[in-house]
Amino acid sequence: MLRPSALMLDFGGVSCISYSMRIFVIGGAGYIGSHVTRGLLDAGHQVCVYDNMSSGAKENIFPETRFIHGDILDYTTLLEAMREGWDAVVYLAALKAVGESMLYPEKYSVNNINGTVYILNAMCAAGVKYICFSSSAAVYGQPVRTPIDEEHPLNPENFYGFTKLEIERFLAWYERLKGLRYASLRYFNAAGYDTAGRVRGLERNPANLLPVIMETAAGIRPRLQIFGADYPTRDGTCIRDYIHVSDLAQAHLLALNFIREKDESLTVNLGSETGLSVREIVEASRRITGKPIPEEITARRPGDPAALTASAAKAKRLLGWKARYSDADTLISSTWNVYNL
Ligand code: WQD
Repeated sequence: MLRPSALMLDFGGVSCISYSMRIFVIGGAGYIGSHVTRGLLDAGHQVCVYDNMSSGAKENIFPETRFIHGDILDYTTLLEAMREGWDAVVYLAALKAVGESMLYPEKYSVNNINGTVYILNAMCAAGVKYICFSSSAAVYGQPVRTPIDEEHPLNPENFYGFTKLEIERFLAWYERLKGLRYASLRYFNAAGYDTAGRVRGLERNPANLLPVIMETAAGIRPRLQIFGADYPTRDGTCIRDYIHVSDLAQAHLLALNFIREKDESLTVNLGSETGLSVREIVEASRRITGKPIPEEITARRPGDPAALTASAAKAKRLLGWKARYSDADTLISSTWNVYNL
């Protein structure tokens, strides 16, 4: 159901025509989901957010969106919402704590895997053909080479990554058997906040590096623990590929256009292709916030690879996508803007 009004969009020099769509964003009140919703609204799409608010924030729900408080495991509510006539689903809802997934795999199986089955079945029943899925670099496991491209072996190290890989396999089967078209977007380390300050919801009990640093800078935590400074990297701390959530949001727009226009599915990495060490992030954070950010070096965290960086060549080639906001200063200053109250 495409609207006749075509919009010209400019993604960092790559222009494309986009049609206004009605998009059902599952998990749209979360940290990444709210940025994706913001990007969809900015591009002129109509959005309905479906979220159970287990980790979403009320202030992340924009007034322009319709909101349905619902759970992906509540098939009746999900199907009813799905039948309202959507052009595409964006599926971000998931449990995502790596450590927790190793302790409580049952919870991750039910939420991530069963939840996916319900979403796909509801899409089939309601005749929604397109889905953009939030996958993860966790599907690769310990890198056997870097930068990691999409042909890298798939060998998840944790149960969370396993659920993401299983979901990708469900998508491929539903494509084959039901004609669904999907974009599976393998995020590296999502970070940053909307540079215009329009997303302000904070994650509760964050465990990822940047929010932990910000909570330390803001005095919410006494100190940052650096999990190991004896890695074989340039300064001994782990290197990661941090990708700004607004760059992720743009990739969703491009991926939805791609699968609709080409009528084919897509699996791509989304990373900045730049490695930043923990120490580099901490030092840049001290400079940008002007706060001391006390630290202590602790033992390595089990399962942490020394360095992880993405090849985003495929996303560049197929989608014309390129990270624009993923430099250390933009990542940190946009996040501090939200934490510095
Ligand atoms: C980054 C670096 C830590 C916190 C995770 C998932 C991955 C993906 C992205 C979803 C590491 C170090 C961290 C702290 C620290 N998630 N660190 N002190 O583990 O690279 O990736 O999020 O798909 O699947 O595993 O991210 O932010 O936890 O850690 O020293 O308090 O910061 O050791 O080197 P990670 P992270």
